[in-house]
Amino acid sequence: MANPLNLFVSLLLHALLITLAVGTTTPASDTGLGHGYGPGSAAPVRPFPLDQVRLGPGLLQEKRDRIKSFIRAYDERRFLILFNEQAGRPNPPGISVPGGWEDGGLLSGHWTGHYMTALSQAYADAGEDVFKRKLDWMVAGLAACQRAITERMRGGRSSTNEDGWTPTYPGYLGALPEDTVLRLGPPRWAVYGDDADTNTWAPWYTQHKIMRGLLDAYYNTDNTQALEVVLKMADWAHLALTIGDKNHPDYAGNLTRDDLNYMWDMYIAGEYGGANEVFSEIYQLTGDDRHLVTARAFDNRESLFGAAVEDKDILVVNADDIPGRRREAQLHANTHVPQFIGYMRIFEHTGWQEYFNAARNFYSWVVPHRLFAHGGTGGQFPGSEENSELFQNRDNIANAIAHDGAETCTTYNMLKLARDLFLHEHDASYMDAYERGLFNMIAGSRADEESSDGDGDGPLLTYFQPLSPGAVREYGNTGTCCGGTGMESHTKYQETVYLRSADGSALWVNLYVPSTLTWTEKGIEIAQETTFPRGDTAKFTITGDGIFDIKLRVPGWAQRGFTVTINGEKCTGSGCKAHPGTYLTLSRHWQTGDTIAVQMPFSIRVERALDRPDTQSILWGPVLLQILGNTNSTSGYHELSLYQHLNLDGDYSRTAIKETGTTPHGDPLFTTADTAGRNLTLRPYYISDRRPASSYFRRVEPTVVFGSIDTGVPNRKRDDGLPSYDVPVEGIPSPGTDGPTFLDLVWDRAPFATHAAFVKAVKDIADEFVDSGVYTATERGRIVAGAKDAKQLDGR
Ligand SMILES: *[C@@H]1O[C@H](CO)[C@@H](O)[C@H](O)[C@H]1NC(C)=O
Ligand SMILES: *[C@@H]1O[C@H](CO)[C@@H](O)[C@H](O)[C@H]1NC(C)=O
Ligand SMILES: *[C@@H]1O[C@H](CO)[C@@H](O)[C@H](O)[C@H]1NC(C)=O
Ligand SMILES: [Zn+2]
Repeated sequence: MANPLNLFVSLLLHALLITLAVGTTTPASDTGLGHGYGPGSAAPVRPFPLDQVRLGPGLLQEKRDRIKSFIRAYDERRFLILFNEQAGRPNPPGISVPGGWEDGGLLSGHWTGHYMTALSQAYADAGEDVFKRKLDWMVAGLAACQRAITERMRGGRSSTNEDGWTPTYPGYLGALPEDTVLRLGPPRWAVYGDDADTNTWAPWYTQHKIMRGLLDAYYNTDNTQALEVVLKMADWAHLALTIGDKNHPDYAGNLTRDDLNYMWDMYIAGEYGGANEVFSEIYQLTGDDRHLVTARAFDNRESLFGAAVEDKDILVVNADDIPGRRREAQLHANTHVPQFIGYMRIFEHTGWQEYFNAARNFYSWVVPHRLFAHGGTGGQFPGSEENSELFQNRDNIANAIAHDGAETCTTYNMLKLARDLFLHEHDASYMDAYERGLFNMIAGSRADEESSDGDGDGPLLTYFQPLSPGAVREYGNTGTCCGGTGMESHTKYQETVYLRSADGSALWVNLYVPSTLTWTEKGIEIAQETTFPRGDTAKFTITGDGIFDIKLRVPGWAQRGFTVTINGEKCTGSGCKAHPGTYLTLSRHWQTGDTIAVQMPFSIRVERALDRPDTQSILWGPVLLQILGNTNSTSGYHELSLYQHLNLDGDYSRTAIKETGTTPHGDPLFTTADTAGRNLTLRPYYISDRRPASSYFRRVEPTVVFGSIDTGVPNRKRDDGLPSYDVPVEGIPSPGTDGPTFLDLVWDRAPFATHAAFVKAVKDIADEFVDSGVYTATERGRIVAGAKDAKQLDGR
């Protein structure tokens, strides 16, 4: 039967077969990340395939193994139930959908993608067959679903089937009807809601997750069928985002840039994850320009893209001054972070600078202006929306701690973005942020207990990781965004430990993690032994022979030194000069048996919130320390006075916050006392149980004290230099009135080599406070006299 529509369809099928042929001619030996494809593979610094880095025993392996147990035990058939229903394929009896948002509702399908990514990563880790078997079975099933759905087009649009819908274009694959995707665009502009026939819920987000899962199956396990399926999905997506909803009676022609902008500006419905990343990667894999067109269709140009290029921070705006047609005053954090990951992919494959600039600028709005001590962002603050998933206003840290906040999947995406930027800029500060997020929020997102098999509390992962004092972490998250990204995070801990320059001339060691790198191309193996972050040393042993640079990251927090020993000899050359927050470069002809030992003594650091320096957190090397237990102080926070304990070296860990021992796992435990003399226990953030704990405390230092000498002079504040929120919060003055105190500024200059140097610093700062009218000359006199008397501060 020939009607115009059938002709069109057969042309499309023809095009599809050609694409397929291209896909399948890729020989199996030339597939996967190891062969130049995938995220970062076209960058000047590149990742290693996951299967070339093996984790050793330690904190991250413990976390990873719990997630591996969960996904190993999980019945993968449950992930195909909804897809089979859409494809008219039977399901075995006695199994049920995963649940959560993966329950047949309008976000269904996303967890199937996350699970495939996690399976592929778990397989890459140690080659355990069970993960590949599950994955191969799922990919084959999804391929059959895709085929069955496309097959219906042969009967033409009028033919109905048991599921009542026929796709508009070939290649669609989903757990929901194709229409739930098409209706987001013109002429219907569907919005979020729970009417299965008219509403939609981030349909391109779900498409992204499924495609991501298939691409990862291809990269990490060489599953070429996954590549075939995802290429067909990409062909479908191209038509869906160019020609669009052509069978609708009110169809008005191809989608325009303006239409696309309007779609992505819509909260929830328009959320598309990092869909632009997968199409950029498919462009790389096929060289077919259509996929670059699709990737760029996701440019969120209604207001955010342009503002990011111009570095004009509009994450939160005044309610009466909202740019664009549909967005709200506060942008949703996890909607937007992955969009910039996609822009980085477009940049990688085109060199178009504006995409890079947009990503870099956007990142700088979050880090440091919206970053909490554990590496997370987003949350409620007084007067804001009752939605903790939104960005807080710029520089609002202390007043955004209200409750909830810091969605775990946003951190998953921020780490991806930091890593992508690093691949191009090689700025160590990206890795400082990566490390902070990884060893705190990500490691802390998985409960330290086994999942009950199958259902129960599911993967035991966090959603929010609240910053409020005495907060308790909750674990579960079957079917949610954070549960899905969590399965991924814990199965890819090795991905950023090592990177290499494109020409193979340099190896970047970014993270201290027990692991073994097999650098196949160079015939080099590097074993890293460390207990980091439980311990502060690492040892590398090289097997093989080659001339290349080893770039060791000197963490920004390594203020107490970073010592490198090569083959037992302390490295003293200019290459070994370590500056915190940089990389040092060891250039050498490396040979089997060469060793590099690194010592980077941890210290206790106190970090102050940007907007309220009296709101502080305590860190031990890379690790945030939480204070255990609830508090009932009037401020709501634990209140600490610590300066009275410091000696000239300014080292909190010697006197004010002391290590008392370790847990059975070797996690350090510390103690300090609050202002009422109660002993408090501090422990690393990554310990994940259900005890109340505080990430921030209030610093209370009422008078100028030097050791046991109390001058009686109030320890006044200097409020100059505090930031002003870009969008004001009612009832909270901004800039604030809790600036750094006199003692803060004195101890910022520690360590002091001698008592005289200490007295000089006190004098200098007291003079500044007199000049700015904070202290009188008399008060200055008492302070300096106190400093002179405080001879016992040398600590001997
Ligand atoms: C609509 O988009 C398709 C690409 O899918 C393109 O081939 C076609 O030329 C476009 N039509 C118009 C009128 O722009
Ligand atoms: C809270 O208050 C009670 C008495 O009202 C007191 O016994 C307890 O120690 C307080 N706890 C803390 C952590 O401040
Ligand atoms: C607090 O701990 C210290 C030792 O860490 C101990 O000497 C002191 O007695 C403790 N104080 C209270 C009130 O428990
Ligand atoms: Zn989430």
